[in-house]
Amino acid sequence: MNSESFKIAVLAGDGIGPEVMREAIKVLRAVERKFSLALKISEAPVGWAGIDAAGKALPDATLKLCKESDCILFGSVGLPDRDPTIPKEERPERAALLRLRKEFGLFANLRPVRLFKELSHACPLSKERQGNGIDILVVRELTGGMYFGQPKKTEEISAGAGKGKILRAIDTMVYTTPEIERIAHVAFRAARVRRKKLTSIDKANVLENGVLWRDVVMTAGREYPDVTLEHMFVDNAAMQLMLKPAQFDVLLCENMFGDILSDEAAALAGSLGMLPSASLGAQSGDRVFGFYEPAGGTAPDIAGKNLANPIAQILSTAMMLRHSFDLSDAAIAIENAVAKTITAGCRTGDIFSPAETNARRVGTIEMGDAIAGAI
Ligand code: IPM
Ligand code: MG
Repeated sequence: MNSESFKIAVLAGDGIGPEVMREAIKVLRAVERKFSLALKISEAPVGWAGIDAAGKALPDATLKLCKESDCILFGSVGLPDRDPTIPKEERPERAALLRLRKEFGLFANLRPVRLFKELSHACPLSKERQGNGIDILVVRELTGGMYFGQPKKTEEISAGAGKGKILRAIDTMVYTTPEIERIAHVAFRAARVRRKKLTSIDKANVLENGVLWRDVVMTAGREYPDVTLEHMFVDNAAMQLMLKPAQFDVLLCENMFGDILSDEAAALAGSLGMLPSASLGAQSGDRVFGFYEPAGGTAPDIAGKNLANPIAQILSTAMMLRHSFDLSDAAIAIENAVAKTITAGCRTGDIFSPAETNARRVGTIEMGDAIAGAI
């Protein structure tokens, strides 16, 4: 791909989004200089910032910019306490984030969970339970299941004569064979270049979806004899993550289970502020449209205070360089700079422990400066 054509739509969003994004761009510019890239970075409002600027969580101009770009670098959206009069369908979570996932067909969500050795104090599990280390890739299906299945509504039903009305809420869990197949192949391919173990999560003992999921994943697995496939019920997986996380390499989950388990796994990495993610669409030619965002949310309680950890956003740019632009050297340069900065003892509050003798507590900006300096 010609470097002239690296067009990135930057949507910082709400809460800590803008301040961690600023640091990510700083690091990206350092990589651009080092590798003589030409990145075209254009910013646009989204989330409450979109509602404030243009009356919509995903303003038309923002969507247009995304469509004209090669990928989206996203911050975070959603401030639960803001304006309760805005209906749920128009709030940022559904009107911006879910809409973008659907609009760009971003069915494959990759969430790498890795606990840096130096940060083992920040992991809620004892050293003993951390085993040989925590390094898990959660592969979450992102455009199907209960998030999008129809019908999805709240309706009034009659409770019977004289008893008035009662409400009934319906969400539908639905998956087709091709939807399961394509995400299974993403997970198997990922496992192949890791430790070659894939744990597929389902609830086949209760759900029709679970039975089909297991069946389709098993069939897809015949094409990957080098990958060890195991199946696990979601409730057991939630427990195993706490008891013996080192047993997992790649976890393959449907949308809702992946949402829940990826947050649980994230806690193991010491802080949500450490976790990047990539949401990818289908490959077209040598390109795949990608959406890159930190796994943590807007963290309104610490927004604007120079406290947020920018590492998740910075590592998301590394995933962007790797998956959207095939620039693995540049991606590795960012990952190495983060590792070096952590080894040097730089810590934002979320990963700081006074017990660490060589650690230094820093703010968002200082962390960004240190990582950019290490590129
Ligand atoms: C995530 C988030 C979103 C989800 C919310 C904000 C809609 O929790 O990306 O995991 O549920 O998918
Ligand atoms: Mg979530």
